[in-house]
Amino acid sequence: MTDRRLKAGMVGGGPGAMIGTAHRHAMWLDNQYALTAGVFSRDEATSRDFADTLGVERSYADYRQMAEQAHELDLVAVVTPNDSHFEIAAAFLEKGVAVVCEKPLTNDSASAAELVALAEANGTFLAVPHIYSAYAMVRHAARMVRDGELGRVRFVAAEHASGWASAPVDQWRMDPAKGGVATAVADVGTHAYHLLRYITGMEATRISAELSILVEGRPVFDNATVRLTMSNGAPATVWATMAATGQEHGLRIRVFGDDASIQWHHEDPQHLTVRHPDGGVTILAHGMSTLSDDAARLTRVGLGHPEGFLEAFANFYTDLSEILRTGRQRELSIPTGVDGLRGVQFVEATIASHGADAAWVALPQ
Ligand SMILES: NC(=O)c1ccc[n+]([C@@H]2O[C@H](COP(=O)([O-])OP(=O)(O)OC[C@H]3O[C@@H](n4cnc5c(N)ncnc54)[C@H](O)[C@@H]3O)[C@@H](O)[C@H]2O)c1
Repeated sequence: MTDRRLKAGMVGGGPGAMIGTAHRHAMWLDNQYALTAGVFSRDEATSRDFADTLGVERSYADYRQMAEQAHELDLVAVVTPNDSHFEIAAAFLEKGVAVVCEKPLTNDSASAAELVALAEANGTFLAVPHIYSAYAMVRHAARMVRDGELGRVRFVAAEHASGWASAPVDQWRMDPAKGGVATAVADVGTHAYHLLRYITGMEATRISAELSILVEGRPVFDNATVRLTMSNGAPATVWATMAATGQEHGLRIRVFGDDASIQWHHEDPQHLTVRHPDGGVTILAHGMSTLSDDAARLTRVGLGHPEGFLEAFANFYTDLSEILRTGRQRELSIPTGVDGLRGVQFVEATIASHGADAAWVALPQ
């Protein structure tokens, strides 16, 4: 019997880690990957023990040792804290192995651009899991905008206003060397920014940003209010924080066109609200037979059976498996290294603007 699953490795995602678990479930859900290798912790014994509990064949002392055996892998997921993404992702891209590197891609745009160039030079693929664009109803929203159902986009309001750190927390994200000085933008703002770009299909040309510290004594900015100008001239806003008291995940986007507006909210991800000029409201639901192919193909169990974060993550991995197997990417597909780079450029631009009293800063195009 031939096992046709792609062979995946993982760096990070050890016991108690947050996002590595989601990556593993996502790989398994559609049966496209076998996780065969890993370095799940900086501690070798912990990593080996964890590999055993997962049934992962090969556990390595560190990512360098694993990269020496990279020819045995089709893909590596890098799910470590931000400051280590570059060195780990580079080690595998240099060997021509595809990489899923967590966001923010890196903590500075020069190294993010280097990763994009490395993937290109070695003929492989770099993907960045801004996972919200893999929800069926977000794909449908993007299709509606592409098909002109909203008319000209006139305003966009995106926010990732989470409450997870509305009180002091001791975590690497609060260390400027690890999570970046504008941690709110790097951690959650990059998701809101990608969602905005993904749904509208437009780039922002310039931004004006104010960074602030909402929880007293924090050494990093945990809040950002950003104004943007989109490539069609439309104004937009991004609010990014992890200190929005009482909020759950708090990711929401509203796109207003001349003819209609849409809203998607992560706390109710299976619905997309469409508002019409006469005040009428249409609620579209995940699994409806009338949805665009982009959204309909992402339904596993059909109308009335909610699919959420893990399924969106699986959509990302399954689209990636299609790319790795065929070399082709759909029009509404998954975020690449370039999208990761755009996110890092956005973080840097907020810091530059804030440092110049919220002056307008041009974004690289
Ligand atoms: N896409 C998303 O929706 C999403 C959500 C959460 C986190 N993230 C990103 O994922 C990354 C990890 O975040 P997290 O919350 O899971 O962090 P975490 O601190 O919970 O887990 C990090 C894991 O990496 C391990 N690790 C650290 N350095 C390592 C190394 N050199 N080799 C092997 N293992 C190592 C740690 O032991 C730990 O198990 C961050 O970049 C974060 O921004 C993305």
